[in-house]
Amino acid sequence: MSKSVDPKLADLFDAAKKAQGSAYAPYSHFNVGAALRTPSGAIFSGCNVENAAYPQGACAETGAISAMALAGERRIVEILVIGDGDGLCTPCGGCRQRIREFAAPETPIYVAGKEGVRLTTTLAELLPYSFGPENLKP
Ligand code: THU
Repeated sequence: MSKSVDPKLADLFDAAKKAQGSAYAPYSHFNVGAALRTPSGAIFSGCNVENAAYPQGACAETGAISAMALAGERRIVEILVIGDGDGLCTPCGGCRQRIREFAAPETPIYVAGKEGVRLTTTLAELLPYSFGPENLKP
């Protein structure tokens, strides 16, 4: 665990970092890991998996959400994403919407680098006025 990680986030950070180690990113060389916590306390993680047909690559968040769904869970309490480099590895637009499906507006999103969490934000900040399951209700 890095020194700059809140102890309450240590398990999430460690899971995301471990997942990052499994990233398959031979084209971008940008390894990403994501880990999310559900109301049961379980943690699900994922890594980016790229493809020679570039648009078919999948983000780390997508993998973590798939693992959560496979386990029968449907709510995200918090999610942490870790990327390489000095910049912020914020979730892409598509992943913001994927997170939105299973998370409330105030859900914390932690953006991390190898040394720890660099930004703590919320889904509502990253995806304001979002469209979700409730918007489909008559
Ligand atoms: N990527 C993620 O997996 N998650 C993010 O939040 C941002 C970007 C991946 C997609 C691609 O494999 C690589 O990072 C470079 O864009």
